[in-house]
Amino acid sequence: MSEKKAYTQAFQTGKYNKASGLLGKYDNVRRFWEDQVTAIFLRSALNDLIERKKKRLERIRILDLGCGIGDGYDLIMGVTTNDPGIYDTIVNAVTDEMLKEYVGIDINENLVQQALDYYDNHPKLRFEVADIAQGMIPGILDQESPFDFYFTSFGTLSHFTNEQCIKIVADICGHAPEHAIFMGDWLGRYSVEWQDLWHHPADQEHFMDYRMSYIYPEEERTTADVAAFPLKLVCRKEVESIIESASKKAGVAIKPLVYFDRSIFIGRHLDTGDYNQNCPKLRGPVNALFEKYVRTDLENLLVDYVPRPGFDHLNNFFDSFFMSFNALVKYTMGLLGDHDCHNGKLKCIPDILPYYPKPLQEAMETMRRVIESVGWLDWGDVRANLIESVLGFALRKLEMELQPGTGVGHGLVGIFEIKK
Ligand SMILES: C[S@@+](CC[C@H](N)C(=O)[O-])C[C@H]1O[C@@H](n2cnc3c(N)ncnc32)[C@H](O)[C@@H]1O
Repeated sequence: MSEKKAYTQAFQTGKYNKASGLLGKYDNVRRFWEDQVTAIFLRSALNDLIERKKKRLERIRILDLGCGIGDGYDLIMGVTTNDPGIYDTIVNAVTDEMLKEYVGIDINENLVQQALDYYDNHPKLRFEVADIAQGMIPGILDQESPFDFYFTSFGTLSHFTNEQCIKIVADICGHAPEHAIFMGDWLGRYSVEWQDLWHHPADQEHFMDYRMSYIYPEEERTTADVAAFPLKLVCRKEVESIIESASKKAGVAIKPLVYFDRSIFIGRHLDTGDYNQNCPKLRGPVNALFEKYVRTDLENLLVDYVPRPGFDHLNNFFDSFFMSFNALVKYTMGLLGDHDCHNGKLKCIPDILPYYPKPLQEAMETMRRVIESVGWLDWGDVRANLIESVLGFALRKLEMELQPGTGVGHGLVGIFEIKK
């Protein structure tokens, strides 16, 4: 009897779930694409901050607003000092000893409790229940010493109106020390996932009815009782206006360091089609690219972009974006088809044309070199385990280097320097 209870308990912890990167909150795309891209864009600002703090013999304090179950802690601690060489040890920007305190605040007490359980009394981590909708001064921040890094992630600021965002950012400025960084993360207004919502006037705030339908298996999505909640969609101009107003309100300079679109190719709602019936279903196949011992049907990655009449500018952007994406996938398919497993050589190598965008040329060249170097390996399913992951990273590179940072991805992120 106690044996049965023990197995039941183990099952209930969720730790007995079959490991798969193909589905769920922490699917392969979240871990190897979205978290990594965010970390790569954060790298420069975070390393500069650490260098400044080291010179002053100080450690850093981080505030994660809308922290949920505390995933931001892992994301920040995973940022590296640079791209390590093939033999070097990976060095994290924020080492354990450089961290003074990470504080996570969130309105949802269940999520905060889950964070507390997960991080299990970690001495440098603190989680508090707090509502930041009306700002954080007075009430929240005036109980705290200044932080060096004010962090939000995965669309948290989309919970608030522009007015509320201005107050939140102005409160951060008022509370910050003489030099700090702030990362703001919203949902992009013009993601291809929600083409049906593009017509809402850009000069008016727009909150979409967000459904987390993607957490259900495809066959249950239409029947499941999926709760909807409002999340605001923004473009770059709206964020710039929020930052400018907050800066004026606080009387503090806020310098944008970088804006980037995250998840143009692989946003979670691409596969649901909830807000665009013609959405290319890419998240599933891209998850499969990163999954070991799973071969992806590369044809499933090809996108036939369906334009939305009346949005020429956006249609042109997505058309050329997906043409580059398709060109890389087709190039890889061509190389795989031409590879001679017996002598390890490529029979003919398709041309890389000089007018292709530079990131596409580099990604194609990389695929050629990888397939030529490892294609002959006839154990361990070299295609599924090596070549397809490289294709996943090549597509990620394409997105990172072709994105304009204007609100055309699932997420629009800005990293800012606060200087007093
Ligand atoms: C999109 S989730 C992001 C969670 C987490 N940062 C992550 O990366 O997984 C937004 C979070 O903001 C929190 N939130 C929403 N409204 C809030 C409010 N008024 N005050 C504080 N947190 C809030 C939600 O509870 C949720 O955990």
